[in-house]
Amino acid sequence: MKKTELMYEGKAKRVYASDADGICIVDYKDDATAFNGLKKGTIAGKGAINNRVSNHIMAMLETHGIPTHVVEQLSDTATAVYRVEIVPVEVIVRNIAAGSLSKKLGIPEGQALKCTVLEFCYKNDALDDPMINETHAIAMGLATKEELDIISGYALRINDILRAFFLEHGIELVDFKLEFGRKPDGTIILADEISPDTCRFWDSVTHEKLDKDRFRRDMGGAEDAYNEVLRRLMGE
Ligand code: TMP
Repeated sequence: MKKTELMYEGKAKRVYASDADGICIVDYKDDATAFNGLKKGTIAGKGAINNRVSNHIMAMLETHGIPTHVVEQLSDTATAVYRVEIVPVEVIVRNIAAGSLSKKLGIPEGQALKCTVLEFCYKNDALDDPMINETHAIAMGLATKEELDIISGYALRINDILRAFFLEHGIELVDFKLEFGRKPDGTIILADEISPDTCRFWDSVTHEKLDKDRFRRDMGGAEDAYNEVLRRLMGE
């Protein structure tokens, strides 16, 4: 399978068309951004780490019956994925208060939440990905009620699977962001990536941050943290 033309360049990935019908090729970059692109930098080796980590997690989710866009890894940084129409609703799942939830609601970071929190954001950089509710998403035609029910069901199941999985590797899954896509027949599948860019991972004993917050908050050690996640998950 070969890349053909560049279809889209995002902040952390390039998406190419391919010579295979219905398949795109995603190429992960080392570029890191935060605050909707206001802060820019690179995390050396991130592209290859996120490619491997995300593919490993998605393959594991497939064994639990979650359909994903991953077809096959092609190189260190590139993966063939099903071509989908991305549903412009980002889904955030939270187990422990952190980040924007702590800021907005005044809940200290690290405080356990009495139930899993599910948030939707409208995927729109010009508007800064504002939080919306289900009726906004339906009213704007971003997704149907049936699609949102499927997406919410998947998001909660993914959370149950991932929490147990990461805990086995000494990692607490604080929160994460998911994106879903529609295949040409309308089937909803998990798309985008699951990586230290899109999740908050804390060491389950020391609570040390092992994710992009090290970059967002200028803490240093982002490369080491991403490598540590890879090592814990893949035993390297
Ligand atoms: P938040 O606390 O900043 O809302 O982030 C919640 C989770 O979503 C966190 O694990 C990081 C992830 N996330 C993304 O993947 N992309 C984004 O653009 C943002 C804002 C958060």
